Amino acid sequence: MEKITLDKLEKFLNSEISNQDHHKVWRCNIKKIITLHNENTKIEFLNDLILIGKSDPRYSHLQNSTWNTIRKNTETCMAFCANSITKSEPLQTVDEPLQTVDDISSIAMKDQIANLNAKSKLQAEQHEITRLQIIEDEKRLLKIQEDELKRQAEIKAQALTNKIDSIFEGFESEKIPEDVLQFDKSDFLAKEAPEYYQQYTELDDTMLSLMCDQSCLLSGVSGSGKTELLRRIAWNLRQQDEDKEAYLLKLSCGQDTKQKQLLDSLGMNIEQKVKRVLGVVAKAIMLANETGKWVIVILDEINLLTPKSQKLLNGILDGSRFLDSDLGKIQRNKGSRLFLAGTLNANYSGTQQLNVEFKDRFNEVLTYKPTRDTLDKIFVQFDIAQDEKDSIIKIYEELDKAQMEKDVTEKAKYTIRSMCATMQKLEMLEFQGVEKSVRLQRAVNMSLTNKFNDEVDHEKVVKIVDGVLNC
Ligand SMILES: Nc1ncnc2c1ncn2[C@@H]1O[C@H](COP(=O)(O)OP(=O)(O)OP(=O)(O)O)[C@@H](O)[C@H]1O
Ligand SMILES: [Mg+2]
Repeated sequence: MEKITLDKLEKFLNSEISNQDHHKVWRCNIKKIITLHNENTKIEFLNDLILIGKSDPRYSHLQNSTWNTIRKNTETCMAFCANSITKSEPLQTVDEPLQTVDDISSIAMKDQIANLNAKSKLQAEQHEITRLQIIEDEKRLLKIQEDELKRQAEIKAQALTNKIDSIFEGFESEKIPEDVLQFDKSDFLAKEAPEYYQQYTELDDTMLSLMCDQSCLLSGVSGSGKTELLRRIAWNLRQQDEDKEAYLLKLSCGQDTKQKQLLDSLGMNIEQKVKRVLGVVAKAIMLANETGKWVIVILDEINLLTPKSQKLLNGILDGSRFLDSDLGKIQRNKGSRLFLAGTLNANYSGTQQLNVEFKDRFNEVLTYKPTRDTLDKIFVQFDIAQDEKDSIIKIYEELDKAQMEKDVTEKAKYTIRSMCATMQKLEMLEFQGVEKSVRLQRAVNMSLTNKFNDEVDHEKVVKIVDGVLNC
């Protein structure tokens, strides 16, 4: 069909449509055909163009009646163009409006639609291929990144191992001397310890001290996990060792802890021969010298040592690495792995302070009371109802509050150890079929309420427990 141009359209409107108000509508209608024709130059029939227009989403709002008007307007314009401008070709129009594909009169039109369909199918297929390729590429990239991170972590871990090895290099095993009362090493193998849940950086910091071959003080209130943290470290070291060897020695310090408990003393063996009986620290040094394995020494409540006893340890805590005993010097050998850790209980107002020079030989790590989150993790091992766990934790919190407000003495506390004991009993009582209302009271009484000698404490604890259990 002859192309209508905008130019021709304007000429037609000016010459044939006298009412200027109608120009806009005519222009708008015929412009649609001009657009469609510009986009589909091979289309020969107006009705075919209209059919394309009907399936075009841009014109989906137009009714059939509008398309009829568009067709009629266009025909008039085409007639004008043919007569008044080109006067060459006859108009090629089809009178009946076509509505469906079946009605398509032109093979070219069918081809066009088929081509479009094929093209869009191809495009969809290509899209899908590209999409799958992108997913594949992303997966590959992620794997490369993960591998790289893993590789870097391995390099770092290896570098760290090398660094630690260099700190502890040059180890040569030395047998425990004959004049020492022999002991069974296996008695001191680190025993399995429960999981420790780090709350801040206390576990990492303690490990840092150990890896740097420096001694460490753990300082925190009673029940903040100082001893357990060290026990867990010892157990972990044993697990990591290729021979499953690591040792733990522990001494609860007091005013009366002297050379005998820390270093050595003279005693008899079963054959009545005089032997050197080792104290905890001396024994640890000799174990470390002989085995080359990690030996952890816990000096619980180290602040209770008298200044004189503290002095006995000075040598082992600094560069000289020896214990100076009247019975002979005990040297810690090169490459031996010894970690000396003291715990300080920050609870009691009258806590004895460590002397400054002694304290200066240690790193200090702070531990804190377990948070609710940590408590939940610790108690996950107990198979009792959540409301029972909640009641036990509530009693603990209320007692803690009473202690802060000085309503009860520092002794009136529900320790985690006691809370675990309560839960263990609860499991058993439930198993025995004891009624819920009774069993919690019984278990709490045995682990807490019945334990107080101080009458005021006892009365207040009973009140707190009743308040929680009967609310
Ligand atoms: N962060 C924690 N992760 C796991 N268990 C913890 C943690 N904190 C405390 N506990 C638990 O609390 C209990 C008391 O811990 P621990 O005896 O080590 O405290 P402590 O600070 O040494 O107290 P004390 O000064 O009275 O000796 C243990 O049963 C321990 O398992
Ligand atoms: Mg402790």
